[in-house]
Amino acid sequence: MDFSVDRHLFVILGATGNLSFLKLLPSLYRVLMEKNLKDSCQVLGVGTKDLGDEGFRERAREALKNAGLSPEEISDWCDSCLHYQSLGKTSQGYSKLAERIKSLEADHKIPGNRIFYLALPPSLFPTAMEGIGESGLSQSPGWIRIVIEKPFGSDLSSSRELNSLARRYFDESQIFRIDHYLGKETVQNLLIFRFANTIFESLWNRDRIESMQITMAESIGIEERARYYDRAGALRDIVQNHLAQILSLTAMEAPAVFEADSIRDEKVKVLRSIPPIRMDDVVFAQYEKGQIKNKAVRSYREEPGVAPDSSTETFIAMKLEIDNWRWQGVPFYLRTGKRLPRRNTQIVVNFRHPPICIFKPHSSCQIQSNRLLITLQPDEGFHLFFDVKEPEEPLRLKTESLHFHYKDAFGPLSDAYQTLIHDILKGDQTLFVRADEVETSWELFTPLLEKDMPIFSYEAGTWGPKEADQLLKRDGRTWINP
Ligand SMILES: NC(=O)c1ccc[n+]([C@@H]2O[C@H](COP(=O)([O-])OP(=O)(O)OC[C@H]3O[C@@H](n4cnc5c(N)ncnc54)[C@H](OP(=O)(O)O)[C@@H]3O)[C@@H](O)[C@H]2O)c1
Repeated sequence: MDFSVDRHLFVILGATGNLSFLKLLPSLYRVLMEKNLKDSCQVLGVGTKDLGDEGFRERAREALKNAGLSPEEISDWCDSCLHYQSLGKTSQGYSKLAERIKSLEADHKIPGNRIFYLALPPSLFPTAMEGIGESGLSQSPGWIRIVIEKPFGSDLSSSRELNSLARRYFDESQIFRIDHYLGKETVQNLLIFRFANTIFESLWNRDRIESMQITMAESIGIEERARYYDRAGALRDIVQNHLAQILSLTAMEAPAVFEADSIRDEKVKVLRSIPPIRMDDVVFAQYEKGQIKNKAVRSYREEPGVAPDSSTETFIAMKLEIDNWRWQGVPFYLRTGKRLPRRNTQIVVNFRHPPICIFKPHSSCQIQSNRLLITLQPDEGFHLFFDVKEPEEPLRLKTESLHFHYKDAFGPLSDAYQTLIHDILKGDQTLFVRADEVETSWELFTPLLEKDMPIFSYEAGTWGPKEADQLLKRDGRTWINP
């Protein structure tokens, strides 16, 4: 499908927040310049502060400078394309916003094409959708798109409520739910890797694969996010969205065509094929103090803003099964945690052991199963492990590997937000999460939030609690740490 970019107004609700200054404005600027789209886009920042156009431009200049752009290159864009509207503290905010939008569209000859990017605290998503809808802004002679940041709901019922509110004013084809993981080149590459390479896809099933592991490890703690994180925890922050997305892309069937709905149909089928998760297949844990890169770090409960008796999980390990023809009997082990030894997201594909070892008479000869390790970040690429004969006698096998590093082939990769923003401008929904995906994922994980899960502990700087190791050990396996 071909997508072009029409003249439009890019409205950022929450334009004075962290996400806007750190990610959205720099990424939007880079996309517009790199794709030669500068003349197609006017930006309207919206917040509650009374900044005025010039106040907002001043802060945007500072943010773009901090993102590595030179003041000379950005100054013209800031002066001619950035505008600001305060919602103020009264109920008139959205009708004033509607007037401003219409006047900017008239001044810049924009035919009613509008993008509303909700860079707001999640508690404000409903108010913002209602404000846009009730002020008539979701209707126009042009196209309308609404972009919603994660988290989309905090459990099954809240995600359903949010979806039903969104549907009151917008059609699903207008809603772009962001999971920034999907903007990463390596996550998108999972589909190319699998469906453009017969050598891998022909092995991608229960006959050849004995287990999979997906790990998303962070070495950082919660930084300044205590208020959000202590209420959310790792299940809501990472598992329900990022890990569920990686799992779906890893396990899905080939789509009929490479376009948004076909791909999303296949992803949601994976989530629907997962039986309810058993409590004893899940380990929740929280970090104690420890050392990371030789530096002492405090425990989770000692982090500023965290309740001293908090039982929020900062680590989860779990075993899932996918009850379909391709994956029946193949366990998928998922793991995420904060304050682990290093930042890394990887998929480990463990292939089956050869059925017999014909080298048995040579006692020094041990066969290792083949393994494919796909690194999604930070050193994007993959590593394929296989056995070779060591030279000379006696007969010995040695595991060697083939490596592919994205950076060697293509240099540094662009930021996920750039990819996603370009897709929003084009109206391509492939990398955005559909309502049924969000709800199916919540259906799967919400029961864990409703159970009284025991919280184990682990030392910061380790790969999690011993209970997570036992989860695999009881199946005769071990975690493959990055
Ligand atoms: N920060 C990140 O790197 C990051 C990464 C991934 C996802 N996210 C998600 O992005 C969203 C925004 O995060 P953030 O870190 O940018 O939040 P933030 O720094 O707290 O910014 C909040 C923004 O919302 C505006 N705001 C507050 N009350 C409002 C109201 N009643 N009506 C309209 N606007 C209001 C604020 O405007 P005033 O300042 O003018 O009041 C400010 O611009 C969240 O959903 C978060 O989960 C953030």
